[in-house]
Amino acid sequence: PVLTVLLCALAYLAGSMLFALPVCRAWHLPDPRAQGSGNPGATNVYRTGGWPPAALTLFLDAAKGWLPVWLAHQADLTILSQAMVALCAVTGHMIPLFYRFKGGKGVATALGAGLALAPATTLLLAAIWALVMWRWKISALASIVAIVSGPIISALIEPDTLPLFGLLAILIVVRHRNNLIRMAQGREPGF
Ligand code: G3P
Repeated sequence: PVLTVLLCALAYLAGSMLFALPVCRAWHLPDPRAQGSGNPGATNVYRTGGWPPAALTLFLDAAKGWLPVWLAHQADLTILSQAMVALCAVTGHMIPLFYRFKGGKGVATALGAGLALAPATTLLLAAIWALVMWRWKISALASIVAIVSGPIISALIEPDTLPLFGLLAILIVVRHRNNLIRMAQGREPGF
């Protein structure tokens, strides 16, 4: 219905705001797209700016995923419609309207959208992320292991959301292709 389309558009526009960029400007840090991995995301902000700007980037990029899905939930849209809204937010971050369609990897935005739609699955995935990060200290590896676990865990505990986690896993793994190549060559930087 109309509301689903409106919220999908809102989610895509919200997703298109790459918060790493204004956060780096506010901290007088260089553009993250020209530093480190070149990714406009919390991990890469951490590389130049440390925890405070990275945490704020993570929070804002997650919030832009959480808010439209929360609105869809409040409006009693079907799970399928809510999942479409979630995907639009993540897609906005990956191919943003405001930055010539060159965006990030979608992990923080998927975290926020997931918390609104499938909190149990998403919290478990966040725990997996933290565990892999603690053991191997490679953010991209933690993101990939967590998101690939999404379809399995959602199938077990929140099966309605399996299609969403399946699509998120594909999109996010594809966006990490350069990280995967670097990992295979042993060149992916640790934390
Ligand atoms: O969320 C992005 C993270 O998984 C990897 O970021 O900057 O190491 O490519 P980066």
